[in-house]
Amino acid sequence: MEQKLGIKISELEDDMVVEMDIGGQNLAVVKHEGRLRVLQGRCTHEGGALGKGRVEGEELICPLHAGAFDLETGAASKNTPWVTDIKIYRTRVDNVTGDIYVEV
Ligand code: FES
Repeated sequence: MEQKLGIKISELEDDMVVEMDIGGQNLAVVKHEGRLRVLQGRCTHEGGALGKGRVEGEELICPLHAGAFDLETGAASKNTPWVTDIKIYRTRVDNVTGDIYVEV
């Protein structure tokens, strides 16, 4: 089911990571190189809040033990084998209002 996030695309700065809860899901919202990504918010290792993580290159880094995930695919980095892949959510941006919708 598609749900509206409480943030507009214009409020996101590049490589800023925002933690949001919607539809019972915890999410990490990132705009990278102008493109929106919404990822699973809980790390697959010990549940670190990926929405409080940071972007490094093409990866989202967990704030707890630096597990790394590909921003495009959610795949866990081979360099941090203590984490497994995370989910990427399908998104839609309303071109007029800038509202962000996520399929959760
Ligand atoms: S909880 Fe994310 S790397 Fe440990």
